[in-house]
Amino acid sequence: MKILGIETSCDETGAAVIEGTVKSRLVKLVSNSLATSLANHAATGGIIPENAAREQIKFIIPVIKESLQQAGMNIKHPAIDAIAVTYGPGLIGSLLVGVETAKTLSYLWKIPIIPVNHLYGHIYANWLMVNGKWKMEKIRFPAIALVVSGGHTDLVYMKSHGDLTVIGGTRDDAAGEAFDKIGRLLGLRYPAGPVISKLAEKGDPKAFLLPRPMWDSKDYDFSFSGLKTSVLNLIKKNGWDFGKTRTVILSQALGSEESLQRNLEKSFDSPQDENLQLIADLCASVQKAIVDVLVFKTLSAVKEYKVKSLILGGGVAANKSLTDNLKFEIGNLKFEIDLRIPIPSLCTDNAAMIATAGFYNDNFVNWKEIAADPELYY
Ligand code: KG4
Ligand code: ZN
Repeated sequence: MKILGIETSCDETGAAVIEGTVKSRLVKLVSNSLATSLANHAATGGIIPENAAREQIKFIIPVIKESLQQAGMNIKHPAIDAIAVTYGPGLIGSLLVGVETAKTLSYLWKIPIIPVNHLYGHIYANWLMVNGKWKMEKIRFPAIALVVSGGHTDLVYMKSHGDLTVIGGTRDDAAGEAFDKIGRLLGLRYPAGPVISKLAEKGDPKAFLLPRPMWDSKDYDFSFSGLKTSVLNLIKKNGWDFGKTRTVILSQALGSEESLQRNLEKSFDSPQDENLQLIADLCASVQKAIVDVLVFKTLSAVKEYKVKSLILGGGVAANKSLTDNLKFEIGNLKFEIDLRIPIPSLCTDNAAMIATAGFYNDNFVNWKEIAADPELYY
């Protein structure tokens, strides 16, 4: 079975083709195409929903066309069995572009739609084989999924496919949002998560003692907005001015991971910005505070629910400190569990994960039966 996935919940426009075998329930990536309007949002310091929607409209057809071409398909009559599309949660203007496009194609090609929850997509990125082989070690249930993105920080108990229970979530900012907002205070461009994690490698995580929000709460909830306030107070108290950071280090966040690394190495080799080490120390301290809480709560859930697998998903799952710490802690457990983390390009938003979630939760509907739902939860 071949499924076209469409993802337009926020600022990425994605289309992908996956192939799934109904009998063995395995899914292989056939093509994956992505356009992003991140550059526009870096310029405005964050996402302006109307701008994101306009960019979605610009990219949606070229991206779908590219994914079908990459899959070697006839773009007018592709050999697709269903269209899986994100119908929420997300920005309404952005979601509508994907959903309405999917409806039109479903009508034209006379194939059903599978409405997909974006959050399921992040989890199901772990079930996608990207190495071209029909071979994957089965993920064992029950599992705990940690979904950490720009909009969500959720701990989910997963009994089997489609049987998900949220056991905790953020009460205010999501982990990715905390990285982005604190990055902004440090003069870093949006999205700040990737560059904070790189700068943190050059800094001292013990340089500043920051709060570990809700560490002591006896539940699996998170709260990150207080951390941002602590950093703001620290900046004010010390009278630090990060206004010039932008010009020095960070012609940054966009570009590839390699070019980001090169830029940073150059900046540290000949620092023109006296604040560079200070920023690196702040980044390391902030990252440690976020990662400590995520790891502590996730491991507590793993132990309480005695799961067989821990699954990560969402943009923050690309954070090396988070994954290294989780690996370490899991190694110390008295029972054995598998840790699954998607490759970095499948941690952040993409359509391949949406198509995969569609395959495993095959709720086929007619094009008239789907509507975008920006507030959708699990
Ligand atoms: O999953 P995603 O692409 O979009 C949402 O569904 O929100 O996640 C984007 C978020 C941003 O907040 C970004 O700063 C964060 O993921 N992010 C990271 C890293 N890479 C992306 N945060 C920390 N470390 C990273 N390496
Ligand atoms: Zn996402």
